[in-house]
Amino acid sequence: MDIQWYPGHMVKTKKMIKQHIKLVDVVLELVDARAPLSTHLPDIDSLVGSKDVITVLNKADLADKGVTESWIKFFKEQGFQAVAVDALRKSGFKRLFSLIESAKKKTILAPKRCMIIGIPNVGKSSLINQMARRKSAKTGDKPGVTRSKMWLKVSDRLELLDTPGILWPKFDDKAVGIKLALLGSIKEELLDLQQLAVILIKYLSIYYPDRLKLRYDVDASIPPMKVLEKIAQSRGFLQSGGTYDIERSVKTLLNEFRQGKLGPLSLEKPEEKEGFWAGISNQDIV
Ligand code: G4P
Repeated sequence: MDIQWYPGHMVKTKKMIKQHIKLVDVVLELVDARAPLSTHLPDIDSLVGSKDVITVLNKADLADKGVTESWIKFFKEQGFQAVAVDALRKSGFKRLFSLIESAKKKTILAPKRCMIIGIPNVGKSSLINQMARRKSAKTGDKPGVTRSKMWLKVSDRLELLDTPGILWPKFDDKAVGIKLALLGSIKEELLDLQQLAVILIKYLSIYYPDRLKLRYDVDASIPPMKVLEKIAQSRGFLQSGGTYDIERSVKTLLNEFRQGKLGPLSLEKPEEKEGFWAGISNQDIV
């Protein structure tokens, strides 16, 4: 996978985020709980300087609960503050607010000010809206902080910058790119979706073999292309001429994975440095 971002745009975006970060006491870095390292901003340290950072593992409802707990433990052991939340259902918010409360503050009297940053699609707008109890999302996936700044009052002691800092993910590692694609943080037109679905099937057959059976009544041990064929068969995805519509199976599988219809599952575990994804990185895929 060879994805080119626009270096000029990225520099501008980072500059804007840096300017806004100066105004806040604490930064919430949002990551996807299903792949907290792959969705983490690699150059966050240079962006946030000495500000307090809380790593927020969002979409915890879609992730494997046990794995998320080991991620929180992992972050703590590395000396980072981390919390798992579900921005849509506001779960984990009590812990999130208590971590924000314990972060350091510039002045005693003013409310604490907070900003959310992260890559596209990790749930930044959702979290802002829920923390500030705002109904409609005002932000889109435009990189940088594009609108004039405004503070949303969360409580008498806390204000939130109304626009998140959006940065593109950076990755040299193919496996990271594939995980981001599976989670929907990379535009689909950049990818070979069938290869992506095949990788997902291989991953599921190793780590969550029951899920394909439960959702599609397919045995995870059969070859991935056969799995796609079986999905087409069981859902009645037929093309004219009676052949199976594999493309539709691919889209269905990827969408249903992203929506959590295959059940909660995680794409990476803290204890697993090698294994499935290390093997994937070396193949010329996607
Ligand atoms: P962003 O600002 O970081 O780009 O993310 P955004 O809030 O737009 O959220 C991206 C998608 O993720 C949205 O779904 C949103 O509903 C969903 N989402 C955000 N937080 C959570 C969470 O904690 N759990 C779950 N299950 N989903 C979450 P969408 O389908 O793109 O849009 P829509 O369904 O909201 O219309």
